[in-house]
Amino acid sequence: MDSLRSKENLNRFESLFGKTKELPRLFQAPARINIIGEHVDYLGGIVLPAAIDFFVEVYLRPNNTASYNLHSVTYNETVELKKPLQPNSKSPWTDYISGVISEIEKKGHIVPGFDLLVDGNIPQGSGLSSSAAFEVVTGYAIQETFGLVISREEIALIGQRAENNFVGTKCGIMDQFIIAVGKKDDCISLNTSTLKYSYHHFELGNNEFYLINSKVKHSLKDSAYNKRREECESALVKIKAKYPKFTHLYEVELSDKELDECHLTNEELKRTKHVTSERERTKIVIDGLETGDFKTVGTSLFQTHWSLSKDFEVSCPEIDFIVDSLQSLGVTGARMIGGGFGGCVLVLDMKDHFSKIDAVLKKSYQQKFNVEIDFYKFQISDGVKEISI
Ligand code: GLA
Repeated sequence: MDSLRSKENLNRFESLFGKTKELPRLFQAPARINIIGEHVDYLGGIVLPAAIDFFVEVYLRPNNTASYNLHSVTYNETVELKKPLQPNSKSPWTDYISGVISEIEKKGHIVPGFDLLVDGNIPQGSGLSSSAAFEVVTGYAIQETFGLVISREEIALIGQRAENNFVGTKCGIMDQFIIAVGKKDDCISLNTSTLKYSYHHFELGNNEFYLINSKVKHSLKDSAYNKRREECESALVKIKAKYPKFTHLYEVELSDKELDECHLTNEELKRTKHVTSERERTKIVIDGLETGDFKTVGTSLFQTHWSLSKDFEVSCPEIDFIVDSLQSLGVTGARMIGGGFGGCVLVLDMKDHFSKIDAVLKKSYQQKFNVEIDFYKFQISDGVKEISI
């Protein structure tokens, strides 16, 4: 925890909202990576995410009024909201808070007025889930402050509903879930159809995961994310008409001929191909991590990338360039992570290989796209929590 930052934010909070005997409480939620299982969490698939040590933090204090007074350090903006809460196109960052309050109240709780300051260091639009972290930290801070009894899993679902219903992205549950339940040094395997999950610790030995930020900013809301989800849903409707036993696209196991007879469009067929092949790769990756077979894990990560790029069509030229270059440079594995259309690449490689990669890739990317990429080393960290100030 950066104590200077927290002191500055506390001063800022008190100068905006007044100094009282009661200090605000500070809550922090991490970013996330996902090792395997991409674009399957709204289709009943298995995902393998972990929380990492970037964060969104909120300072929150009840104000005994009917107003929510909100300040964003990133946007240097203060907004007062009152019920009924509506989407706010002038300050869209407040929608995450309004969405969470609305979803908590739909469950029969009452959320009294509060003052809140938000800050963080998760690069926005980088595929590391700054929005989900904001939703989860807001939900957690509200339930802790007002003594509501809401489990971590339920806070994740509230965050997802806020994003689906208020913000407008029809995201799955992976991001909010791992941010709510993450544990230092562990990833989880989450079955998104049952929400059953377990913690896993993998010994990486001489290997490491790290991230490369392409600096291409995605906007899931304005992007084709919702369209991909619709294509998957319409593919399932057609498949079910012939094979009613399948309840999720992720489960579909059919030969090419059988799929042909479902009369999918070319897009629906390609999306189905990604989703069902991701199921097979996920098994291979979990086995490989358990047995220390990093070569096989890496090969599957590359395969996932090209499946996301060619069949699911959620990559972009910059990200493809990074993965292609890494493959030529001989790294163990790499792929885009998150919703896509920009953001970060997750790399798996031997630790001592890093110094040979970063300078070469930085230079070639700069030459081709005139942008400087960032490399992030990270620690697997805890999920949302309170920090004492
Ligand atoms: C975004 C969404 C998640 C998930 C990923 C793709 O991060 O928020 O729910 O669908 O994209 O795996």
